[in-house]
Amino acid sequence: MSGESTIPGSERVAPPKNKDNLWSRRSFLGFAAWAAFGAFMTALLLSFLRYLYPRVLFEPSPVVKVGRPEEYIVGEVSEKYKESNRLWLVRTNDGIYALLAICTHLGCTPRWLATEEKFKCPCHGSGFKKSGVNFEGPAPRPLERIKIALDPDGIIVVDKSKTFRYEKGQWDRAPADVVQEAFLKLA
Ligand code: FES
Repeated sequence: MSGESTIPGSERVAPPKNKDNLWSRRSFLGFAAWAAFGAFMTALLLSFLRYLYPRVLFEPSPVVKVGRPEEYIVGEVSEKYKESNRLWLVRTNDGIYALLAICTHLGCTPRWLATEEKFKCPCHGSGFKKSGVNFEGPAPRPLERIKIALDPDGIIVVDKSKTFRYEKGQWDRAPADVVQEAFLKLA
């Protein structure tokens, strides 16, 4: 006998067997909570930054200067601005008009076939005469003409924000101020 007495109630209570598991679970939950909080704060910060620097889509100006009338050959379709501005310029004996290079069926870009003297859409085969009037395929109406004018310096300016439709008479039958915006008459 050692002589030590055991005081009632002073016996050590055995620690729970799963203490480590309990703490690691607590640590994990704490970590998860902080991670969620961090993700929330990051999202908040990003949305704030996006608010400060909104995504703005800069559209090219619809107004395009396309040079002087002398640069265009009578009887020819110029494709100089087709890629950059999706338009053609057509020089006739007495003037010049601009056509929007957008098929009136589903919006593809037609091609100018010089030997056949027509615009042909590669998507579903619509064909348009040099004037822009449709004559084959599913396109329901002619190509649209674009507002065209000379500026004070003698430079041709086209404005794609204003277009003219043949079927509405805007090429030839509308009031003179409309018709003259759809066709630039040259002396
Ligand atoms: S988009 Fe041109 S024919 Fe269909």
